Amino acid sequence: MLSPDPETAVLRHRSATSPSPGPTVAGELPAAGRDGKDAALVQAMFDRVAPRYDLANAALSFGQDAHWRRVTAGAARPADAHVLDVAAGPGNVAVELVRQGADEVVALDLSFNMLAEGARRGHDRITWVNGDAQALPFPDESFDAVTISFGLRNVPDPQLALREFARVTRPGGRVVVCEFANPTSPAFRTIYRRYLVGALPQFARVVSSSAPAYRYLADSILAWPDRASIGGWLSTAGFREVMVKDLAFGIVAVHRGFRA
Ligand SMILES: C[S@@+](CC[C@H](N)C(=O)[O-])C[C@H]1O[C@@H](n2cnc3c(N)ncnc32)[C@H](O)[C@@H]1O
Repeated sequence: MLSPDPETAVLRHRSATSPSPGPTVAGELPAAGRDGKDAALVQAMFDRVAPRYDLANAALSFGQDAHWRRVTAGAARPADAHVLDVAAGPGNVAVELVRQGADEVVALDLSFNMLAEGARRGHDRITWVNGDAQALPFPDESFDAVTISFGLRNVPDPQLALREFARVTRPGGRVVVCEFANPTSPAFRTIYRRYLVGALPQFARVVSSSAPAYRYLADSILAWPDRASIGGWLSTAGFREVMVKDLAFGIVAVHRGFRA
């Protein structure tokens, strides 16, 4: 089993009712643009979202989110692998990695409430670790693959996080980044943007435990760089053969690269 730094909190089957030891900033949202994102505000926001996270995702993606995570897990070639799932939330990708044959998965997240949700569900081959994508508490080259699904957009310095992914991935290992993207068709892009800024925050009021977080979601998707930029970041971080696969008419892009 991979051992994280002893100073890092490792949660195992924590009670879902445990209070968050992290900062609580009532209702305040982090900046949605690429600059000035505050990790403490991001953590507090996801702590608030955690209780109904899965329900909201399924509703707001019209049930597509499970398929996106299956593709993400598969792209990591998880069979018999030690995989790190960064920004794991309640562990949806981690569970999928195990289902697709991963030997062991470390699910790391900044939000204690997200980790507690995941750990409450219990899973033998998943270890829950509290930590920051920008400073991973693991030795060099300790994983066969690293995945991040709908997490990189929330990290204050995504390129620093990608360098960390490269550091902890063994040569030849995989990194998979699943993230929202702009649809490639101009007509669909217009409809989608209307959904993001108009309908989505309204739906979120019904299905989410923190509707304002979905305003941040819309703004952060619109501020996120295009596919070519993310591909360039992966190459610069030390990954080769970088490819991208579009899902749902380009609403979601899954990048994969191999550690040089
Ligand atoms: C939208 S959720 C995605 C959860 C999961 N990967 C999924 O696909 O459902 C984003 C997650 O990123 C986590 N996160 C944000 N910034 C982070 C950071 N710097 N390091 C680790 N996790 C972070 C949040 O706490 C949250 O659980």
